Amino acid sequence: MSLGTWQMWGETATRGVQEAIDAGYRCIDTATGYRNEEAVGAGIRASRIDRDHLLIITKFPEEEVGRERRTLLRSLDLLGVDCLDLWLIHAPLDADGSLAMWERFIEAREEGLVRAIGVSNFQPAQVDALIARSGVVPAVNQVAFGPRWFDSALAGHHASHGIVVQGHSPFSENELHHSVVRTIAERHGRSVHQVLLRWHLEHGVLTVAKSVSREHLAANLQVSEFSLDPAEVAAIDRIGSHNWSEDAP
Ligand SMILES: NC(=O)c1ccc[n+]([C@@H]2O[C@H](COP(=O)([O-])OP(=O)(O)OC[C@H]3O[C@@H](n4cnc5c(N)ncnc54)[C@H](OP(=O)(O)O)[C@@H]3O)[C@@H](O)[C@H]2O)c1
Repeated sequence: MSLGTWQMWGETATRGVQEAIDAGYRCIDTATGYRNEEAVGAGIRASRIDRDHLLIITKFPEEEVGRERRTLLRSLDLLGVDCLDLWLIHAPLDADGSLAMWERFIEAREEGLVRAIGVSNFQPAQVDALIARSGVVPAVNQVAFGPRWFDSALAGHHASHGIVVQGHSPFSENELHHSVVRTIAERHGRSVHQVLLRWHLEHGVLTVAKSVSREHLAANLQVSEFSLDPAEVAAIDRIGSHNWSEDAP
């Protein structure tokens, strides 16, 4: 489980990151485009956990193509770290544009500025094109994966390449109160938020979720305490394709 930090700024971001790390989060997701890397870095330093035990992700804004290294050095400086754990291309450009960014990403990894490189919001065909032209497989693709966007082909494609799928916006990009999710939540004595996070896990998808509430941060970590059976997973899978119909599992 990663902590998302989109639309968290200043003291809210610093306190939110510190509290999340102290609550047990070990992966923090930010982006150059979120304009909060400095506040996120302050939260990391304010926590009681050694930086070596944390996984720090930031994303390169595709509109800055051609300025990759300069942007990365600025991110490292703002975050207050020597090396990133994961650097993502925030969104694809056309095939040539994506390749141009990716080649700079490979150089940054070879230089030791980042430990791993990946992409975000790429379709399988765009990932295929990147691999075919560079020979380098992205470690991660961070995408909207919830029931509204559920794509079993993407999950299968990425698994076959060993690409980790990270699902962003598990709540804001989904209809939390659909009767299928509500029914399953009541059956397990869990919240609809916990059921959606667990559904991602059942698909082998890691999530990036945001919260500035201590109570919600703790609840979102508890998804390892229960599981969904295959019929429940399949019922949630069908929500998107059913156009939000109300048939319970
Ligand atoms: N790669 C990309 O293009 C991309 C795009 C969008 C997002 N992201 C990443 O994904 C992260 C998450 O997405 P998001 O920021 O759109 O939001 P989200 O995680 O889908 O939803 C956040 C909302 O859910 C609430 N919430 C969280 N846990 C809850 C719980 N247990 N019970 C009740 N409410 C709960 C939060 O309120 P409280 O604060 O009150 O808990 C907040 O209002 C972003 O912050 C960002 O890091 C990446």
